[in-house]
Amino acid sequence: MRFESAGADAPIGVFDSGVGGLTVARAIRDQLPGESMIYVGDTARTPYGPRPIAEVRRFALEILDDLVHQGVKMLVIACNTASAAVLRDARERYDVPVVEVIGPTVRSAASITRNGRVGLIGTKGTIQSRAYDDLFAMRPDIALTSAACPRFVELVEAGETSGPVVHAAAEEYLAPLVAQGIDTLVLGCTHYPFLRGAIRQVVGPDVALVSSDIETAGEVYEVLTDRGLLRAPGAGEPELRYEATGADTAGFVELARRMLGIGIDSVDRVQTGAIRLPDSA
Ligand code: DGL
Repeated sequence: MRFESAGADAPIGVFDSGVGGLTVARAIRDQLPGESMIYVGDTARTPYGPRPIAEVRRFALEILDDLVHQGVKMLVIACNTASAAVLRDARERYDVPVVEVIGPTVRSAASITRNGRVGLIGTKGTIQSRAYDDLFAMRPDIALTSAACPRFVELVEAGETSGPVVHAAAEEYLAPLVAQGIDTLVLGCTHYPFLRGAIRQVVGPDVALVSSDIETAGEVYEVLTDRGLLRAPGAGEPELRYEATGADTAGFVELARRMLGIGIDSVDRVQTGAIRLPDSA
């Protein structure tokens, strides 16, 4: 199925399983403050990490279809697990450009490492999909060591990003990677920038941390510029809309404020699959 492209004034559609993708949304806002944005968090079905990849794929395409139906000019899959699940077909499915988090993050890590030993942390779904391994395979000089960190997302969603419990989890997940002599660590989950302090403390100052939020925002900037899709400077105030699929929209607002310092006035509750194109089922 293919959809029509939207013009430069249209919003960017950003999607994550929950609040983690707000780290990407914030990085896009930092680099492109004039752009309008619709952010969708699939909070009713978060976390995606432990789910079968086929199920994540179905959820992701449902939400991406809805965003395209709303007329976005670009799709940003601000979730590593969802990116891994739809990496192969999202670009063929839509006429609007699709930016996902894995490609830009791999390119950045590959250019940073000096000793060729790169560590990767992510959800179980991301690690098991081997999507990162496939892309790093283009650089045979790089040895990738991966670890799934299932408790990290739970801790972030609970607003717990420092303290002994977080430190113990970080130590448990990261010590084997440090023992491999990595000089670069990919934070392969959009929730993990919230845990940067604890991660840094465990890996030490000599390991470069590469996180998908900044790298993905850079790719958004580049693609919009290359395609002549940047919103015109005099186009007026950008519109920012936040949508969540779960009932607890107040919890979403509170978490976003606490974690990101983003003042969100309101979050609209949306039903997934509510706006479906006739042939998208
Ligand atoms: N933020 C998602 C990611 O980047 C993970 C959160 C989840 O498990 O839903 O993979």
